Amino acid sequence: MNPKPLLAGQSAVVTGAGRGIGAAIAKALAAAGASVAINYSRSADESEALRSEIEAAGGNAFTIQADVSREDDVQAMFDATIKRFGTVDILVNNAGIQIDAPFEDMKLDQWNKLLAINLTGQFLCARAAVREFLRRGVAPERSAAAGKIICISSVHEVIPWAGHVNYATSKGGVGMFMRTLAQEMASRRIRVNAIGPGAIATDINRNAWETEEAKAKLLKLIPYGRVGAAVDIGKAAVWLASDESDYMTGQTLFVDGGMTLYPEFRDAG
Ligand code: BGC
Repeated sequence: MNPKPLLAGQSAVVTGAGRGIGAAIAKALAAAGASVAINYSRSADESEALRSEIEAAGGNAFTIQADVSREDDVQAMFDATIKRFGTVDILVNNAGIQIDAPFEDMKLDQWNKLLAINLTGQFLCARAAVREFLRRGVAPERSAAAGKIICISSVHEVIPWAGHVNYATSKGGVGMFMRTLAQEMASRRIRVNAIGPGAIATDINRNAWETEEAKAKLLKLIPYGRVGAAVDIGKAAVWLASDESDYMTGQTLFVDGGMTLYPEFRDAG
């Protein structure tokens, strides 16, 4: 017997899906039967390649350019997705950047730009998704929930990170944003959760895993003994988007090989 794919008939918006963790999430959701809007800001070619790959594997996807920190862009992205797929069942708030600087040198622009994308972007996309979920209500043939939002956070939602104060602040904010929204929306059967990835090998942290030296240093922080792969996050996203996690809301699922377990305490204290 072939079970029905976990996300059959559902549609999803994945922000920042052209590359890295977002691309792996888009692929995983599509493989689980969802139609996927691949959002990108600048990675047009990578996004098109991803769309072809998903279609070649029998999935359904289209690409849509939008800067998640711009209200009009976000509205246009949701309008286009709803026109194409009929509705939106799943939002994955993945788009995010790092702009690192020592605190005393950090420019206001570096602070503002990062928060605009990593935090305000999650607000704008979640609001647009919630409006659509509330308009439509529960469609029981597809899902027990009226909608699911997955916020991509980080281990730095809880681990302070010197030299990255804008980034860590944004992820701490994502955690409280997610929990407050989950509390506000639960009675309307909208589930809101987060994934807190650890060190996942993508372009954003290439300098932390590319050389053997850097990798050895990084592995000291990962009890499970391997750097994460984007597909590790894709799998968690499918589960959180599906009814398999229907009783879960307001939680951050850390997918980090144990990075949040204070590994430096293994032989100390
Ligand atoms: C950051 C990566 C970092 C990882 C673990 C992520 O949120 O974007 O650069 O490697 O956290 O520190």
